[in-house]
Amino acid sequence: MNSIIIGAGSAIAQAVIQSLHANAENIITVSRKLPDQSNPVIHGFTSDYSPTSIAKVIQQIKDLNLGSIDRVYICNGVLQNDNIKVEKRIEDLDPESFMSVLHSNTLTPILWVQALLPILRQQNCTITVFSARIGSISDNNLGGWYSYRASKAALNMLLKNACVEYAKRAKGVKILAFHPGTTDTPLSKPFQKNVPKGKLFSPEFVATSLEEIIQNLEVDGQLSFKDWQSKDILW
Ligand SMILES: NC(=O)c1ccc[n+]([C@@H]2O[C@H](COP(=O)([O-])OP(=O)(O)OC[C@H]3O[C@@H](n4cnc5c(N)ncnc54)[C@H](OP(=O)(O)O)[C@@H]3O)[C@@H](O)[C@H]2O)c1
Repeated sequence: MNSIIIGAGSAIAQAVIQSLHANAENIITVSRKLPDQSNPVIHGFTSDYSPTSIAKVIQQIKDLNLGSIDRVYICNGVLQNDNIKVEKRIEDLDPESFMSVLHSNTLTPILWVQALLPILRQQNCTITVFSARIGSISDNNLGGWYSYRASKAALNMLLKNACVEYAKRAKGVKILAFHPGTTDTPLSKPFQKNVPKGKLFSPEFVATSLEEIIQNLEVDGQLSFKDWQSKDILW
């Protein structure tokens, strides 16, 4: 089994890597950060997620001669950083921040879905893309977080598009837009105060739940939008 984890620096990605590692799979990681070279089972690549860099990584993966990819995990997602703050009201919306969030949360994942197509196994292959319930238009009763919400809603639409095309060109590939629930990672750190008891998950719990979900997914040519309990989320 060959797995690739994009955005491998994510805390949830790290837990996914640990759980795959326990099953002695070939693991390929891609991150902006330098890879951990200490583990021979893990093939780590760096990327700035530009199209040129993505193409280079695809070639490097081909050069590994491991065969086609069975599992893809695309974990990229930015909520806040030094330059970007979540919007509480419409006046907070800043064009530059908005474009930056769209770039990392929406464009980067779909560029990988585009680039990986030729090297995916054409049977029982899954692509898991980390989305978020907050990208559900029908679930939006709170407002706020304009850029992040829009980035995940747009991500879901692009995945739906890809799914329609994959259903004709890569029938053996299933795409999952996954909501991990509120998980204890740097992304959620500033917002954990109001999370109800028992509702802040560890990355390890999320990785285990995701593994079970993937094992039970039907390759049906449809995009699934599921949470950590495998419950479908309304678009
Ligand atoms: N934690 C939660 O409560 C929660 C809830 C719902 C959904 N999610 C989603 O779950 C996924 C994983 O998040 P996490 O909680 O594990 O967060 P995290 O530890 O903060 O990881 C951040 C992720 O975003 C990537 N990233 C950061 N800056 C980027 C940039 N400029 N361009 C492209 N990618 C960039 C990182 O990739 P590198 O490896 O390159 O650093 C990494 O994959 C995200 O898609 C997030 O939206 C999380």
